[in-house]
Amino acid sequence: MTHPLDPKNPDLRVEFYRLYRDFFDRAERKRRWSVADDIPWGQTNKSLDPRVADVVEAFCTVEMYLPDYVGKALPLIRANRGWAWFHANWGYEESKHSLALGDWLLKSGMRTPEQMADMEHRVFEHEWHLPEDSPAGMIVYAMAQELATWVNYRNLRHRLTELGGDPCLAKLLDHIAVDERAHHAFYLRVVQMFLKADRATTLEAIRRVMLGFAMPAVHLIADGAQRAADIRALKIFDDDIYLTEVFRPIVDALGLSMKELRRPKKAVG
Ligand SMILES: [Fe+2]
Ligand SMILES: [Fe+2]
Repeated sequence: MTHPLDPKNPDLRVEFYRLYRDFFDRAERKRRWSVADDIPWGQTNKSLDPRVADVVEAFCTVEMYLPDYVGKALPLIRANRGWAWFHANWGYEESKHSLALGDWLLKSGMRTPEQMADMEHRVFEHEWHLPEDSPAGMIVYAMAQELATWVNYRNLRHRLTELGGDPCLAKLLDHIAVDERAHHAFYLRVVQMFLKADRATTLEAIRRVMLGFAMPAVHLIADGAQRAADIRALKIFDDDIYLTEVFRPIVDALGLSMKELRRPKKAVG
């Protein structure tokens, strides 16, 4: 007998595969976009507020830790085809995000090829480690992180006009935001499945991860503290936004009460 949340568990494998085929078929039908053909590369704005480029560079750097995000997770989930195939497909989509953001930094003239090479070099000097390695921890972290990422991209998109406007970046952020939202929706469905299979373990992971959430790899970015301050100052992401736009909507979508999220009291005596 395998544990209900063990990636090798037969029921979990069947369910995951069903969710993945649904996700993949929809992505192929409705969501595929091309970096080369679907972005108006001629419409960058050379006089855009330079803080936008700093934030885009920070987002691009987070996306560049892809080899760690994929390489560290796959060995843990290789026995579960739906999960592993999802992760491979997810990796393809995330790889596009850093390509497109990097292309925008260059084509807009906000960064030189030398600066981009420097950034790549810095990324590959550090390694990112999984924040969670239990199945429930990994899934809950991914569910929260994808929604937080969507909020970051959407809010930058909303601030663009007042920061000078850039039709190229606007279109690019729209495509990325749709992908991030789809990633979140997939993981939300997996968490719902996990709650059914083992409510106590999944609830404990939700408490642990969601009450202590941090975006991935931010501490690995050069000038990470400054970039985080820019992101807060431009009202793209901060603790309040996390609470109202990530934490609350997830708790509601999962139908959880705040009472359930409190840690169970230890028995005395
Ligand atoms: Fe992404
Ligand atoms: Fe994503």
